[in-house]
Amino acid sequence: MALVELELKDQVGILTINRPEALNALNDQVISELDKVLDSIDVNTVRCLIVTGAGQKAFVAGADIAQMSGLTKAEGEAFGKLGNDVFRKLETLPIPTIAAVNGFALGGGCELSMSCDIRLASETAVFGQPEVGLGITPGFGGTQRLARLVGMGKAKEMIYTARNIKAPEALACGLVQAVYPAEELMAEAEKMAARIAGNAPIAVRACKKAINDGTQVDMDKAIVVEEKLFGSCFETKDQRSAMAAFVEKRKHDPFENC
Ligand code: HXC
Repeated sequence: MALVELELKDQVGILTINRPEALNALNDQVISELDKVLDSIDVNTVRCLIVTGAGQKAFVAGADIAQMSGLTKAEGEAFGKLGNDVFRKLETLPIPTIAAVNGFALGGGCELSMSCDIRLASETAVFGQPEVGLGITPGFGGTQRLARLVGMGKAKEMIYTARNIKAPEALACGLVQAVYPAEELMAEAEKMAARIAGNAPIAVRACKKAINDGTQVDMDKAIVVEEKLFGSCFETKDQRSAMAAFVEKRKHDPFENC
């Protein structure tokens, strides 16, 4: 049985971490399967990816504590790099990604969700970086991405205290974009993904790149990043046909990704 599954529904991919008996904890094998599944996604046909966890209880309850318990310093660093490289691949996947957080998102699970563009949570979701209670730091990007998403003070409070937060608090601090009853979460995630998939794919991918790349540099460089990507959308068939439809006061044709 695969520990990471990919299902395609029209133009939307649904990636599921499938190790429910261990609350989808990330061991070497899960991380390596995640890497391979990400490589397998054809970003010219899949227009949005949803990431979720199998079962009713957890998105991902963290990196596998049993596997980490005996690591040497060098092995610990290598394990951090293994996860960081794969999570960065997810973060920089050219298409938009939505984490559908259906339960515990702790440690590496919170970090996995933060490597996605958008987080939608069930009312049962719990977020946290409990690592200091285990004698380690967050190691799959948590010290960096949490501060960028919720601000330095909130991130430090959560990380130093190892306090888990429930969905309403995650919504209030901007860690998640919306909260739904558990049974509605996937349908809502799929609805959002379908809406994204219906927009001009070249433009959507350019927006993701502009936001991701532009926020890493100063504003003078950032607006140049935007200008280049803005320019790259022109002369595409989708740009030409959508603007022609507007000018001619008719609905545009479905986008063709060219
Ligand atoms: C390994 C885990 C696990 C984890 C749960 N399990 N989380 N195994 N690593 N992170 C396993 C349990 O051992 C148990 O297996 C089964 O899943 C069910 O979990 P229970 O604890 O029995 O469930 P429950 O009592 O409902 O408690 C749920 C929980 C708890 C509150 C989420 O499981 C928990 O605290 N898990 C650890 C959360 C955590 O600390 N995560 C951060 C890890 S550090 P058995 O075989 O007994 O049924 C991290 C660092 C990332 O993520 C960076 C690394 C470089």
